[in-house]
Formats: sequence, structure tokens, C-alpha cells
Amino acid sequence: LGGVFSAKPLAGKKVLLTAGPTYEPIDTVRGITNISSGKMGYALARACRDAGAEVTLVSGPTALTPPTLVHTIAVQSAQDMYQAVLAEVGRSDVFISVAAVADYRVKNRSEHKIKKGDSLPVIELEENPDILATVAGLPAAPFCVGFAAESQNLLQYADQKRRRKKVPLLVANLAQHAMGADTNSVTLLDDHGQHPLPDMPKADVARAIVQHLAQSLNLKTE
Ligand code: CTP
Ligand code: CA
Repeated sequence: LGGVFSAKPLAGKKVLLTAGPTYEPIDTVRGITNISSGKMGYALARACRDAGAEVTLVSGPTALTPPTLVHTIAVQSAQDMYQAVLAEVGRSDVFISVAAVADYRVKNRSEHKIKKGDSLPVIELEENPDILATVAGLPAAPFCVGFAAESQNLLQYADQKRRRKKVPLLVANLAQHAMGADTNSVTLLDDHGQHPLPDMPKADVARAIVQHLAQSLNLKTE
């Protein structure tokens, strides 16, 4: 790959990321969510910023401090996240989908707190839009990076996911290993194959993903 490394490999690039979980209300005090600390997505936002990119981060609810010099948009539900992403994606060169988006939302959401009664409440679900697949399918799609959190058959499921969503680069990790932790061991999947990275702090994983991303972008324009 030429061996020429810039200190700011993403200089001039606009990067849009999602991070954290989404929250799907059942009523005014209860909801459905996914387990996600947001740490991997926030680390990637910082790594992209440090690589010279202009970064927009669409974040579900997390306990993290928004990174400095990153335009952070706070959202709750998957539909909020979908709308924020579609509003921003037109000016983005890269979309990195790290969020643990809830696959379903509550159809019969109550406008008031549900009271305990004689019968159990019945929660009806409907499917949320797939934000990554939607962005990857846009006519002028940015370069898309997806994540796959699996609990088994990691590389097989991740490879299927990469093909199904038509994303050039996918980051596979074991959910039980990554969730909430400060370290992560991931495998990058692209057209050239599988690239396992060592187990290391999420900040280092993020920097390695950014290096790989920058090389992929260069190959595309060469
Ligand atoms: N994703 C998304 N919108 C959704 C669901 C997922 O943008 N409604 C993105 C995630 O941010 C991630 C990738 O798609 O980058 C894979 O998410 P994952 O939950 O692993 O895959 P799913 O396609 O939802 O399949 P499943 O949950 O059944 O494994
Ligand atoms: Ca999912």
C-alpha cells in the first residue's frame, strides 16, 4: 500500500457515526433498549477526529461525555436516529454505524404510565428501519462501515451481514466480550478477506479501524 502514512489520514473527510443504544418507549417511564455503553462508537468518533476528519456523532442515551470538537446529536429512539442520520448523510464521505439499534419498537405505546391491573399488559412490536442498510442503499451512498455483534458463529454471521447490507467494511465482535468493556478484539471483513486485530483498549481498536478505513478510501480513489 505504498508505505506512505499521513499523520492525518482522514483530513478533509466528513465522517458521520452512530453510537450507543436506542431507547424505545413502552409508556412514559418504561422502555426497551439494548445493552451498549457507547464506548466503542465514542472512541471511533475521537479517532476519526484525531485523524483530521470533521465528525458528526449521532448518539443514543449513554453515560459518556460527548467528545470535544465533535458535533454530537443526542437521540433516543431508532426512528429519531434514522431521521438524524438521513438529515446529515448527504454531506458525509463516510458513515460508521456503531449503534446497537433496537430492531423493534413498541406499536401500542401508552401516552400515560401503565398501571398495574388485573391483566398483564401486552406489548406489540413493529420493526424499526435498518439505518445502515438504508444509507448503504442510497444512490450517492458514503463509504459505509458496519458493526456486527454476534454471540456465536461470529465470522460466518458477520460475513453474511456484510453481504446482505452491502457494506464494504464490517467490524465483527463477540457481544459478550465487547459489551461494556474497555477492551475489544475485533475482526475486520472486507473484499480482501478477514483481518483479525489483537485484543486491545477500544481507543487502539478505533485507531486501527481508522487506519484500515483510510487505506480503503485511498484504494477507492486510486
Ligand atoms: N443497524 C442499523 N439499524 C438497525 C439495525 C442495525 O443501522 N435497525 C446496524 C448496526 O449499527 C450495525 C449493523 O447494522 O452496524 C448490524 O447490526 P446487528 O444488530 O448486528 O444486525 P441486524 O441486521 O440487526 O441482525 P441481528 O440483530 O438479527 O443479528
Ligand atoms: Ca439487530
